[in-house]
Amino acid sequence: MDYHPEVLFDELTIKNRIAELGAQITHDYAGQEIVVVCVLKGAFVFCADLIKEINLPIRLEFISLSSYGDKTASSGEVKKNLDITGKIRGENVLVVEDIVDTGLTIETLFRDLSSREPRTMKLASLLFKPEKLKADVDIDYLAFEIEDQFVIGFGLDYAQRYRELPYIGVLNQA
Ligand code: PRP
Repeated sequence: MDYHPEVLFDELTIKNRIAELGAQITHDYAGQEIVVVCVLKGAFVFCADLIKEINLPIRLEFISLSSYGDKTASSGEVKKNLDITGKIRGENVLVVEDIVDTGLTIETLFRDLSSREPRTMKLASLLFKPEKLKADVDIDYLAFEIEDQFVIGFGLDYAQRYRELPYIGVLNQA
């Protein structure tokens, strides 16, 4: 296994882009409060950095969904491992994802959260891979669009490895 994956986006590039997204979110929700729903596990690094760039009152919630298991392709079945603990009825919800690939995770999550009647619901994602998209997904705040390659680091894993890398890399499988 390659433990020095090729760099796709380096730390500074990511930091600068997250600062831009944070400023945009701060502007768009001016005068309001938001509930940030961080989709575990992959989004935890992006979410931690993003909320520091949002200059608004935030309530943070976590939800855990998974569909990849230890594979590089989606199983097509989205499993909820952990739910948020707070109420979101009447709130401005900002869902924070690490990547939208087939879009099945976010489609499933939006259906679930919508049924709890938030006031508004938007999506921020670190990455978007349009090639495999199967669902109707709008990303309101996107850091980077990428080609169809398996990316790791900055929270993203392959078989639970590489999440700790401070950059986004590409896994070169032998
Ligand atoms: C990854 C990622 C997204 C989802 C995107 O989660 O974090 O939630 O897949 O893929 P999709 O658009 O094809 O549904 P994963 O199942 O790997 O769980 P993890 O976040 O715990 O690593």
